[in-house]
Amino acid sequence: MGRTSRTLSSSLGRKMLMAASGSFLSLFILVHLAGNSSALLGRTTFLAYVDYLHSLGVLLHFFEILLLTAFCTHVFLALLLFFENRKARPEPYAVVKSSGGATLAGQTMIYSGTVILLFLVLHLQNFLFIDRELPVADLLRTVLGNPALAVIYLIGTLAVGLHLSHGLWSLCQTLGLEHPKYTSTLDKKAALLGLAIGLFFALIIVVALFYPGFLL
Ligand code: HEM
Repeated sequence: MGRTSRTLSSSLGRKMLMAASGSFLSLFILVHLAGNSSALLGRTTFLAYVDYLHSLGVLLHFFEILLLTAFCTHVFLALLLFFENRKARPEPYAVVKSSGGATLAGQTMIYSGTVILLFLVLHLQNFLFIDRELPVADLLRTVLGNPALAVIYLIGTLAVGLHLSHGLWSLCQTLGLEHPKYTSTLDKKAALLGLAIGLFFALIIVVALFYPGFLL
């Protein structure tokens, strides 16, 4: 058996791959949020950020390939886990214990993940796979100034917050950071951070929709 198949067939290997790909994606989302927040500081700042991003050239493309690889790995493992769990336990439990993992965010990971996937298809179509006639700042205004699109973006980014909230909590568990002696609340803080990231994205969308002059 090859190394890849061995890793994929061991549950520890899968957990580690899920954690590694999830950490990389979370880091990207954090950097993306920081970059997008520059729109709140005005058009010049936002355009400077986008120009810097594009000046990275081949490095940016290398990063995009890494991002796509992490994303595909994460989705593949999530689906594998989901269908294996369903095969092992076709009937859901009648009683849900209220441990940290049995929160709304924890129980809806496959659904929030699916919403994120659909949101990303639209998002990349809006911003990446287009003929760039408009500067990105005007594009942002056009996309988020459309109420129907803004609502879809709000749903997408809130799904990101929900997904990250359980994902970061789960990462702390996988890395064994939940030790009661020194990090009794670290996993809860991670869950709050995930939610805060989603809410901050949502804030940018709300500002763009109702106060476009303030945004760019
Ligand atoms: C307020 C919400 C958001 C805004 C305004 C926004 C804005 C943008 C913009 C302007 C770009 C194009 C950047 C460029 O010119 O290269 C972009 C790309 C991208 N966005 Fe977002 N974004 C938002 C939320 C998200 C979320 C929540 C995710 C992840 C789940 C995401 C994932 C991506 C990805 C994967 C790319 C392509 C990155 C690349 O090619 O390097 N975005 N976004």
